[in-house]
Amino acid sequence: MPTFVVVGLQWGDEGKGKITDILSAKSDYIVRYQGGNNAGHTVYVGENKFVLHLLPSGVLQDKGKCIIANGVVVDPKAFMEEIDTLESQGLSTDHVFISRRAHIIMPYHIMLDTYREEFAGKGQIGTTKRGIGPCYEDKISRVGIRAIDLLNPDILEEKIKENLKVKNALFEKLFDKPTVDYKDILEQYLEYGKKLAHRIVDTELEINQAIDEGKNVLFEGAQALMLDIDFGTYPYVTSSSPTTGGVTVGAGVPPNKLETLIGVSKAYSTRVGNGPYPTELFDEVGEQIRKVGHEFGATTGRPRRCGWLDLVALKHACMINGITHLVITKLDVLSKFKNIKVCTAYETEDGKVIDYFTSSTTKLALYKPIYEELPGWDEDITKISSFDELPQNAQSYIHFIEKYLGIEVYLVSVGPERTQNILKKELF
Ligand code: GDP
Ligand code: IMO
Ligand code: MG
Repeated sequence: MPTFVVVGLQWGDEGKGKITDILSAKSDYIVRYQGGNNAGHTVYVGENKFVLHLLPSGVLQDKGKCIIANGVVVDPKAFMEEIDTLESQGLSTDHVFISRRAHIIMPYHIMLDTYREEFAGKGQIGTTKRGIGPCYEDKISRVGIRAIDLLNPDILEEKIKENLKVKNALFEKLFDKPTVDYKDILEQYLEYGKKLAHRIVDTELEINQAIDEGKNVLFEGAQALMLDIDFGTYPYVTSSSPTTGGVTVGAGVPPNKLETLIGVSKAYSTRVGNGPYPTELFDEVGEQIRKVGHEFGATTGRPRRCGWLDLVALKHACMINGITHLVITKLDVLSKFKNIKVCTAYETEDGKVIDYFTSSTTKLALYKPIYEELPGWDEDITKISSFDELPQNAQSYIHFIEKYLGIEVYLVSVGPERTQNILKKELF
């Protein structure tokens, strides 16, 4: 069963896109199974930069079939813009398909997301304002509009009208905003339906058959464990399950068909948006990481919050995901630091030392990181391709992470370009 799942283990932006791109060279299928265009996955191929939001990063290899499965929320406008951008960059997108079961982001979802954040003031989550949360809410409330509905004018009209009764009441009475008319939306979305009809297909049967036939099937996660709706820092999370478990419901693949579970973590940590983050740095070290690592969001352009690696949080992430293979990215960004800190435990608000993650977001905000300090290295490591050639202290840093987590690192990424990797072990 050659199945591979790539998930983020921190707060997103670990470099999942780059890792998916590498693995896609040998994959027959590349499947996105959760999230939407809140994601931003940047891949460098030579001098060319590609940013994927909704499409699987595997589209860049032009080999495997790319599927946006049922668990993803799809903004058709964003989808078509992304297709146009990629085609203008010379790529083919004929092999990209959307599940008929995938839920559709409507303009009123984006409005709701935006108004709610405004309304929440200081308590806002810091969402990407792409309508992700409101679309998943409608799905769970059983009033959502699915890709298949775009192909049926009568059903689409009825559903939009029903939804707008509630949404318009909220816009008018709670948010003091203008209401929206169903006709404009209907016309626009029927047009999307016509343009996308040839891409809207059933996907779960095909994916399962491909696995049964021994094809290489790769699942690309968006976001990450610390943004997971259940196991992240709730409510400062996204509205889906960016876990390996998320594949089962997000693509219709049973757990006993999932084999290689790859977790991606930066050699340090970052976060975009609000919420507790114990190892966040507010000093010049954090500033240096941001500058050297170019830590600015690919979707919203916001500067990312930066800090040291948090092994307590990482262990929690590896446990929930059952990670079998670890990837450490951006090790090159840590070159030149005299010492590198790693958080191995927390001191709680009442002085206790703990080495496990908490479900209390309010308490987590009060925890202080307890660090071990490891010696840094001075060398530029961006051209190194074998683990033995890394400076001794960089090797020791990787070994320290492996020992703490009890999981082997199979790949170390030392630069943004597709080929800047140290492969410790062949996967397939
Ligand atoms: P994703 O959302 O997990 O796919 O990650 P993003 O693409 O949002 O953010 C990762 C950023 O780091 C991108 O700009 C990548 O080009 C870049 N990147 C990935 N791996 C490395 C690496 O090993 N070193 C450096 N310097 N940059 C990297
Ligand atoms: P990738 O796939 C980093 C964050 C937002 C916000 C929270 C909720 O590139 O790793 P949402 O719009 O999802 O309701 O916002 O989640 N967030 C991300 N942060 N990388 C991402 O995706 C993210 N997707 C959502 O900043 O804090
Ligand atoms: Mg990203």
